[in-house]
Amino acid sequence: MTDAGQNIESVLQEDRKFPPSSEFSAQANISSEQQYLEMWNKGKDDPAGFWGELAKENLAWFKEFDSVMDGEMPETKWFTGGKINASYQCLDRHLTGPRKNKAAIIWEGEPGDQRILTYQQLHHEVCKFANVLKKLGIETGDRVTIYMPMVPELAIAMLACARLGAVHSIVFGGFSADAIADRNHDAESKLVITADGGWRRGKEIPLKATVDEAMEKSPTVENVVVYRRTGGDVNMVPDRDYWWHDLMEDVDADCPAVELDSEHPLFILYTSGSTGKPKGVLHTTAGYMLGATMTSKWVFDLKEDDTYWCTADIGWITGHSYITYGPLSNGTTSLMYEGAPNWPDEGRFWNIVEKSQVNIFYTAPTAIRAFIKWGDQWPSQYDLSSLRLLGTVGEPINPEAWMWYHKVIGNEKCPIVDTWWQTETGGIMLSPLPGVTATKPGSCTKPLPGVVPAIVTEEGEPVTEGGGLLVMTQPWPHMLRTVYGDHDRFIETYFSKFDGKYYFAGDGARIDDDGYYWVMGRVDDVLNVSGHRLSTMEVESALVAHDNVAEAAVVGFPHELKGEGICCFVTLKSGDGSDEEKEELKQHVRKQIGAIATPDKIKIAPALPKTRSGKIMRRLLRDIAAGRDVSGDVTTLEDNTILEKLREDD
Ligand code: WTA
Repeated sequence: MTDAGQNIESVLQEDRKFPPSSEFSAQANISSEQQYLEMWNKGKDDPAGFWGELAKENLAWFKEFDSVMDGEMPETKWFTGGKINASYQCLDRHLTGPRKNKAAIIWEGEPGDQRILTYQQLHHEVCKFANVLKKLGIETGDRVTIYMPMVPELAIAMLACARLGAVHSIVFGGFSADAIADRNHDAESKLVITADGGWRRGKEIPLKATVDEAMEKSPTVENVVVYRRTGGDVNMVPDRDYWWHDLMEDVDADCPAVELDSEHPLFILYTSGSTGKPKGVLHTTAGYMLGATMTSKWVFDLKEDDTYWCTADIGWITGHSYITYGPLSNGTTSLMYEGAPNWPDEGRFWNIVEKSQVNIFYTAPTAIRAFIKWGDQWPSQYDLSSLRLLGTVGEPINPEAWMWYHKVIGNEKCPIVDTWWQTETGGIMLSPLPGVTATKPGSCTKPLPGVVPAIVTEEGEPVTEGGGLLVMTQPWPHMLRTVYGDHDRFIETYFSKFDGKYYFAGDGARIDDDGYYWVMGRVDDVLNVSGHRLSTMEVESALVAHDNVAEAAVVGFPHELKGEGICCFVTLKSGDGSDEEKEELKQHVRKQIGAIATPDKIKIAPALPKTRSGKIMRRLLRDIAAGRDVSGDVTTLEDNTILEKLREDD
């Protein structure tokens, strides 16, 4: 906890407070401290009563559940006996009232093309595509991999899977063929849905070609559906690959949603843990949908006439919960943008905000830091006065970035919700309620209703002063149910540390005198690069898979834009590491994992610093990567000259 300790010092100095305006509070879905406290206390003292009432009011049941929660954490089952469907919840429900012709998705492609799908139209497309899936032999419970650009068909594909009870596993478009193949294999996917390509900074990202490569190592996958987005050349394998538009011609739009058990799996989403192999985080239907629905309504204060924009990619959990499932379940208009924020210029996001009169804007600290770097002249060219609420997610936000967001984008009138949560938690856990909470720059403030966190020592004792480990002391409906195919790993990773008593998030945090939470980052070997999780071990295994690498150790270091950068310390089997060799290693990691894992620095040395018992001293490597003087005890180091050599190699 040395690094976390340093963070505590810096955040302690932050004592500015920004209460919501009385106008905002007056119109908010949760509008007073008293209302929040009543909800929170009920969630703590009577979770079954609390979540049960919300589930009855906010979810559409084919058959109502018999009991709200059964069993102790981590094996709690929610809403058993109930029958439900997430696609029905997001679509059909809205078709009998005024939302029928409301925009569900406002989409903009990077080249500037636009599409709007009403709830009725989205329903039509989803039903048709679900019939396509059936024709391809997809049944309830089958796994389907989706590897697509940010086009409406991505949301259509996920909702079509949900309609049948097929389990989607979305792989972010920045992952490599090997990463797709690993996920296909782990989930035993039967089908891959992709596109010819997608647009990014004016260039075509060739997705189908990457899938073709993955298919060489994906024996369970029978078919590939290809959506035509860019019109680029693709190789279609007869009887295996089909064009989306061809398949859609032969199906009708009648496809009733399958009535599924509450605990039926909705999706798998792979995320990095502290070991090399990504974990298939599994979420189930009713509990996840309740979490996505309620947290969207509370935190984003959704109203019928809002235009809401979350800039995440659907390939991450943020896009699952807060582009597709949460907003659509609430009947919201969700904006979706395909491309880069700086294409054709750095004003693109603000152009979209002005054009669509966006009211709620949810992005990541790494993006905010890039906006700051690009300069105020970009947002200042546009009318941002439609914005009423701002949000962030993915990593701790530094107070300077928070203040810039508040002043330049929010014009000092929009509450900022700094939302802490994880792939595993399914939905937001700690966050200001925009009509209630006085925010502090850098703090995710308080637990939402139904969430009961604590900060404990390594031994599980409550921490009264300073930092500790963030845990959840009570189950919640939208928590992960298992790691796909590896329930032992699920128990081991999240629950074994405190003998099953608490869910352990892997983050360090502290609580201040006002009861506000300050999350300080991971305490395990997980890197947070631009708000995306990568494990140091994953990058290390990629490196040692290279013929000329003898040994590798990977650490994070503070990076101005990305939050954390990736620094690799490598010993080679031959040669002494020319610039070309370093570049080759970077490209090698990129090919193995994907562009998001491209190392920022490669440092080559004849040996890595180890203790006499042979353990790599990562603490020292972290200091070197950050350009700090090596702190603390180095007396256990086997060979003292190594540090100098590593420092020199830049
Ligand atoms: C970090 C993203 C501080 C944290 C939704 C967590 C944050 C990991 C915040 C999960 C925040 C996310 N403040 N840290 N507001 N939000 N994190 O699974 O370390 O991609 O454990 O989910 O991101 O990343 P994941």
